[in-house]
Amino acid sequence: MPDKRDVTIFPSQAALSEHAADLFVRAARESVAARGRFSIALTGGSSPHKTYELLAQAPRSGQIDWANVFVFLGDERFVPDDDDRSNYGMCRRLLLEHVPLKDEQVFPIPTNAATPEVAAGEYAQTLARVFSQTAGGPPPAFDLVLLGMGDDGHCASLFPGMPSLHVQDRWVVSSPPGTLPPPVDRVTCTFPVLNAARQVVFLVNGEKKATAVRDIFEDGAALEQHPAAGVSPTSGNLTWLLDETAAGLLTK
Ligand code: 6PG
Repeated sequence: MPDKRDVTIFPSQAALSEHAADLFVRAARESVAARGRFSIALTGGSSPHKTYELLAQAPRSGQIDWANVFVFLGDERFVPDDDDRSNYGMCRRLLLEHVPLKDEQVFPIPTNAATPEVAAGEYAQTLARVFSQTAGGPPPAFDLVLLGMGDDGHCASLFPGMPSLHVQDRWVVSSPPGTLPPPVDRVTCTFPVLNAARQVVFLVNGEKKATAVRDIFEDGAALEQHPAAGVSPTSGNLTWLLDETAAGLLTK
């Protein structure tokens, strides 16, 4: 993988979250100034909780032109929105319901669809419509994609060894659960979408992630083993924000 990642190591998760929230504010301002809108794909999991809380509060909540923000999810667990495991539900509770966003600016993955496959197809159509592109053609470019990384190196719902890792002709696919909880079906954006973004930012904290971080950064781990290794934006920027414990096995 070309070494174009920008890596910052923070003394604590709190410091990492402050930085991530500032980065979000900056990306929103620059995107609105340059293109009139800011499209963001949020991540699920627990890593972004503090960042979302910071964005929901003053002063940062007042530093974003929410009227021009369009919110998507990079992946979803196939559960109802009000289920505790829903990524959208978490984003809504911690961030979205606290800021002035209209329903038509927020695009959850439709987990009320009949199956995860149907939800994936519908979400691809939603992306095509909102970005004025043809589904299956060149993927839309999110201004910012936030990602977490599982202990096993997965990102979004792209799990080690799964066929979804090699999908090039679809923007959104379904996936069976990975080996980490929760054990529910998923819907996930694919690498072509993640790698089309203008900026991708990983938020990674905790000792349990240290082995995968080392494997990816220093041992050239393949995406089959640690899918996060497959995130390499075609022309966008890649940033990894690590806390000291996640970076604990790095030697360089
Ligand atoms: C999900 C995700 C997933 C997550 C990582 C990290 O639905 O779980 O979007 O890719 O970001 O598993 O999860 P934590 O932040 O909880 O460690």
